[in-house]
Amino acid sequence: MKKNFYVTTPIYYPSGKLHIGHAYTTVAADVLKRYKQTDGYNAYFLTGMDEHGEKIEIKAKEANLTPQEFVDEMAIDIKSVWKMLDVEYDCFLRTTDEKHVKQVQYIFDRLLKQDDIYKGEYEGKYCTSCESYFTDTQLDDGNCPDCGGPVKIIKEESYFFRCGKYIDRLVEHMDANEDFILPKSRKNELVNSFIKPGIQDLAVSRTNFKWGVPVQSDPDHVVYVWIDALSNYITALGYQDNDDLFKEFWPADVHLMGKEIIRFHVIYWPMILMALDLPLPKQLFAHGWLLMDAQKMSKSKGNVIYPDYIVENYGVDTLRYFLMREIPFGVDGQFTPESFVSRVNDDIVNDLGNLVNRTISMVNKYFDGTVNYSPRVDELTLAHHTDYNTLLKEFHENMDKLQFSRALEVCWKYISLTNKFIDLTQPWVLAKDESTKGELEAVMFTLLRLINQIATLVYPFTPTYAKTIKAQIGQREEFSYDLATPNTFNVTDTPVPLLMRLEVKEEVEKIRAEMLSHLPPVVEQKEFVDFDQFKKTVMKVGEVLSVEKHKNADKLLVLQIDMGTEVKQIVSGLAEFYSPTSLVGKKLIIVDNLKPVTIRKEESNGMILTTNIGKKVQVISVDKDTENGCVVE
Ligand code: MSP
Repeated sequence: MKKNFYVTTPIYYPSGKLHIGHAYTTVAADVLKRYKQTDGYNAYFLTGMDEHGEKIEIKAKEANLTPQEFVDEMAIDIKSVWKMLDVEYDCFLRTTDEKHVKQVQYIFDRLLKQDDIYKGEYEGKYCTSCESYFTDTQLDDGNCPDCGGPVKIIKEESYFFRCGKYIDRLVEHMDANEDFILPKSRKNELVNSFIKPGIQDLAVSRTNFKWGVPVQSDPDHVVYVWIDALSNYITALGYQDNDDLFKEFWPADVHLMGKEIIRFHVIYWPMILMALDLPLPKQLFAHGWLLMDAQKMSKSKGNVIYPDYIVENYGVDTLRYFLMREIPFGVDGQFTPESFVSRVNDDIVNDLGNLVNRTISMVNKYFDGTVNYSPRVDELTLAHHTDYNTLLKEFHENMDKLQFSRALEVCWKYISLTNKFIDLTQPWVLAKDESTKGELEAVMFTLLRLINQIATLVYPFTPTYAKTIKAQIGQREEFSYDLATPNTFNVTDTPVPLLMRLEVKEEVEKIRAEMLSHLPPVVEQKEFVDFDQFKKTVMKVGEVLSVEKHKNADKLLVLQIDMGTEVKQIVSGLAEFYSPTSLVGKKLIIVDNLKPVTIRKEESNGMILTTNIGKKVQVISVDKDTENGCVVE
């Protein structure tokens, strides 16, 4: 009987194009699924889209689409990203799926009937972008602690979930199950910031927008997006529906997620499951953030990189490899164009690519492409046995702990050991003498056997390379840690390099230019006034009667203006552009009701309208026959 394994990613907000930071969680889940399958498990991998909520409602409006149309378009986009990244999920759940909606309504209703949910009123600080409320102490300088954006005060009738009822059980569970929250350090953070200060009941419905799952018994309310979203982990398996999958795979073996959303998974999700009388997921793993040049990715910083660019230019496996190798799973890490290019060149082109290439070339040169097993192979392998076996053990230990980066480090030790094996056995020397032909064949066979093993080790991370390698050494594209080794290897005539070496400077520059190309265009921020505000400004035509230079300021003129019913004095910065006499007799547009001010001891009672292009200022004058004092509208 195969053992089951259920891994999930968060479901993504379809509010924008997914960048490589989003890809990080999903690639990790795909790696884990492939690893478990290779290890003989029946693995099930869930991802999807979190399609409800105010933010999506707003985005759809901006795009002039209904929310449903908007998310439908995004679903096509997001699925194509996963396809491009070779992500083989088993279920792509959308929270607008009818089945999901029905089951969320069932969950809400059931909790309501059980009195786990009650109706009350909520007032709090809410971040629309993150769809969550914060207490004052949680705010970061008055802003959302997650995204740094503004929060707004919201007061609304709401349903609440009785967290108090389950908190002790949750804390007990956390204490009794050391590996429930990983990395372990996250647990203390959560306990200190969210549990110790006392947990409040959670508002689980909203009335201030419509785009959500309606509460069946009270359709003015929609279910809070996090309750809707978290439930996906069981609705995707057909909970309360056709539940064969549910029986097979629940509880989840691991929910993967970024560190900023672990608190929803650690606190609220288990409580809901307890209320539904269901077992809790075995593990919640919070990875760190993928930063760009030490900063969070954002278009406005010109540091976003999208998966399609990398995949089109360097192939999918470079990105998968980089993400899993460069950033230890659990802490923050960096993408920089420099680190990307050097990882690709050093690890993939040099270490792995060269090993495969030179081996295939030698097998062709010395044996016309075919080598057979002989008992000497085992002796040769045995000579290096301990090292290889220790590495294999370390590889599995790290994979089981989700330490992908360390597991890859171990893989690369295995690769470099194999490269060293070539240097030690010196096939080119053996080839010189007919009497060492048997030894040479055993060396070649050993090498191919090791390469076959390496293909299996790297397969979860770089499936395309793994398949290319297998094909080049005449093996089926099948991956299992239990696969028996073949007795013969037939290699391809000409080795196909996994990737050509990258020109460091050129590629780094190209990637940087690509990042900058996503800087949003600078748009002038207009601040609109409404008509009533505009009407408050009274403008009239006035004739310049006389002009003098300001006594205390070179740039200012003091003008006497005939406004029809009165003569007013205005101080204006026109001295650079007009001589006093040139203005006399001009009929100008004057702001009549501007609050009087004193400018360098001269009273100024209004303002002259001018055009202002660069440094050139010109008064706006009207026809000579326009009456003084007539209103400009
Ligand atoms: N919809 C919620 C999740 C609900 S799960 C029941 C959500 N969506 S999200 O689209 O904002 O984020 C999805 C995942 O992408 C999160 O795990 C988040 O941490 C991850 N990442 C987004 N940007 C990231 C980086 N720059 N680096 C690493 N992960 C990042 O939250």
